[in-house]
Amino acid sequence: MNSNGEMENNVFWHGSTIKKEDWERQHGHKSIIIWFTGLSGSGKSTIANGLQHKLFEKNISVYLLDGDNLRHGINKNLSFSAEDRQENIRRTAEIGKLFVDAGIVVIAALISPFEKERLNARALFKQGEFIEVYIKCSLQECENRDPKGLYKKARKGEIIHFTGIDQPYEEPRNPEIIIDTNKLSIDKSVEILLDYLFDKIRLELNIKE
Ligand code: ADX
Repeated sequence: MNSNGEMENNVFWHGSTIKKEDWERQHGHKSIIIWFTGLSGSGKSTIANGLQHKLFEKNISVYLLDGDNLRHGINKNLSFSAEDRQENIRRTAEIGKLFVDAGIVVIAALISPFEKERLNARALFKQGEFIEVYIKCSLQECENRDPKGLYKKARKGEIIHFTGIDQPYEEPRNPEIIIDTNKLSIDKSVEILLDYLFDKIRLELNIKE
């Protein structure tokens, strides 16, 4: 983009007179994206949903972008090849960015197995806006849980490119938070995240100040 906001393909950026800060003031809290990554069966969707519920109860404008659900719509044309997962992450991060620009707290819950793509997602956001949460759980435990019976199918070769089986999962190198679901209950995990958001990030704006 050049200094006039002009792209090489003759597409222009239209600035908005309402800024992110204006939306945040209207909502009464900061807008950030909380990015959950972890193996299938690690607890991402359950914890993300629990967190969304608690934030909603506290009057936070929050919205969950769940990988499985996005694959029913916007990402329905994507497979589980490395290239398509890359695109899955890119689209989800771009959607998340729009929500964050609109003053919403976004929770994204995707396996997002590759460090490079997670770093690309982070790079779309300002410092402090992207909170990476590693939902850590051993492959063995995820396989024992196997809530959707997918590990069993992957072991039998009925599903290919399955994360942790015949496709790698790269652990995050520098996540803001690690939630170890081998040890922590869902409720405790949500509580830790809430404490982080309210005490450390200071999510709420004190509009009376
Ligand atoms: S991601 O790797 O591209 O981020 P995403 O979170 O969107 O994955 O989707 C993962 C979900 O798709 C899993 O929870 C599981 O239910 C389902 N799934 C189907 N096939 C696979 C596969 N080959 N690898 C991992 N998950 C799969």
